[in-house]
Amino acid sequence: MRQVIVAGNWKMNASKDMAGGLISGILSGMSGVKSKIIACVPFPYLSQVEELTKGSQISIGAQNLNVNSSGAFTGEVSAEMIKDFGAGYVIIGHSERRSLYNETNDIVAEKVEAALNSGLTPIFCVGETLSDREAGNTEAVVEKQVMAVLDRTGAEVFKKIIIAYEPVWAIGTGVTATPEQAQETHRYIRSILSRYDEGAAQITPILYGGSMNPGNAKELISCADIDGGLIGGASLEAESFLNICKAG
Ligand code: PGA
Repeated sequence: MRQVIVAGNWKMNASKDMAGGLISGILSGMSGVKSKIIACVPFPYLSQVEELTKGSQISIGAQNLNVNSSGAFTGEVSAEMIKDFGAGYVIIGHSERRSLYNETNDIVAEKVEAALNSGLTPIFCVGETLSDREAGNTEAVVEKQVMAVLDRTGAEVFKKIIIAYEPVWAIGTGVTATPEQAQETHRYIRSILSRYDEGAAQITPILYGGSMNPGNAKELISCADIDGGLIGGASLEAESFLNICKAG
């Protein structure tokens, strides 16, 4: 039985006041939450969120990394720096990074490997665009994204990876994949893993992301191959995030 994981992706949204209020709001409503909770916060707030969540049920993550551990890479942040703030997770290959910052499948695979090598758990994102889906290419696109990592790292290490399936057309749009659409792709992703390593296929959590909210979380998370959510907009408000956490 895989534990339900609910990860908040704050994206580039925070201030010291907002981070403080949001984390304390979440902490005050945690009773009865059985899911594993991860807050993926912008780099400058890692330190503050580390302090606020010490000893709590909330784990911390970042949203990107540079594959080098240190050196002349102005403006970049390494896995070691992320770990220095108590973070155990990092989102890799989010569709916004793929489309806005030209992160190819190869770059994403390199980043997943760098995260694993440094002991961070990657939250590795895959997902098709609307035109991919309309052309009937959802499985092919997602398979290519998964295989880029698998070819580089092998299947065994997927036991230490969290996958997030995020259809690009559902991210921030208010349009959620139906539980049937999401489950179908989640099952397909798991079937790719089982071709190479059945153990990894059974263990690897696959989260759904894309306009998940308190109203649709329960139905999505109750699908056989959906192990939780990666939440953008609804993670920025304590009550809605908590209500998703309680759906697991
Ligand atoms: P959303 O974002 O929940 O706002 O759709 C999800 C994500 O981009 O991770």
